[in-house]
Amino acid sequence: MNASLQNKLPTLQANISNLSIKNALALLADFFPCQVTFSTSFSYEDQIITHEIVNNNLPIKIFTLDTGRLFSETYSVWSRTNEFYNTKIEAYYPDAIALQELVSQRGPNSFYESIENRKECCHIRKVVPLKNALKGNTIWVTGLRAEHSPARQDLQILEWDEGNQLIKYNPLLHWNTAETIQFVHQNNIPYNSLHDKGFVSIGCAPCTRAIKAGEDFRAGRWWWEDANKKECGLHEKQA
Ligand code: ADX
Ligand code: SF4
Repeated sequence: MNASLQNKLPTLQANISNLSIKNALALLADFFPCQVTFSTSFSYEDQIITHEIVNNNLPIKIFTLDTGRLFSETYSVWSRTNEFYNTKIEAYYPDAIALQELVSQRGPNSFYESIENRKECCHIRKVVPLKNALKGNTIWVTGLRAEHSPARQDLQILEWDEGNQLIKYNPLLHWNTAETIQFVHQNNIPYNSLHDKGFVSIGCAPCTRAIKAGEDFRAGRWWWEDANKKECGLHEKQA
């Protein structure tokens, strides 16, 4: 356990509590030079954070986990984001041998067959690449929002991530859906066109569907599984 880093949490929390997202990101980047990184899945939330980082020229690396099974719309918004902001968002990939073995042994869609198979696929395509992306970093910035699931309501804006031994910063945690979408439109931020087709939380194509009015925000993710077991391992506690 990284006790000294964990001990800094209360002070950091106090330092950023009244700051704008831009200023909080700047302060963290200042405190931990070259050790602040942001993971984007190109959701509305992530696009807002990218906007803040790039527009304010903050020294924070932006990366994405390309599972190989993303929607073509996601690749499209990734590409438009690079053009719009003149960025080179860094891509992390699954280990080629592990992926080759998985698909050869179990077939390309093994995730529909059991939760174990689904978690195995998420582990190879997302969790291991995430660990690689986080190496050497102290602060991991995410686009998690409390409204997305009941399990995310207990999160803190700054919190200790025991699994990854670093501090997670969730700047949009308490934003609601309306203000999130409004910010994107008001600032002409490029966004995933699937959001206009009923997709709220967007992951891999075979494991994500649009939701209907009244459905839980996470209902479109791994919809064939028991709601309590929808955990992919990126956000261990939050599922
Ligand atoms: S997941 O755990 O269910 O997949 P979700 O889609 O809600 O996560 O996204 C929450 C946050 O996790 C995003 O704001 C982003 O920071 C990170 N994230 C999720 N998927 C990816 C991805 N493919 N690449 C990079 N970051 C991701
Ligand atoms: Fe595999 Fe589906 Fe997990 Fe993507 S979301 S890594 S396709 S199981």
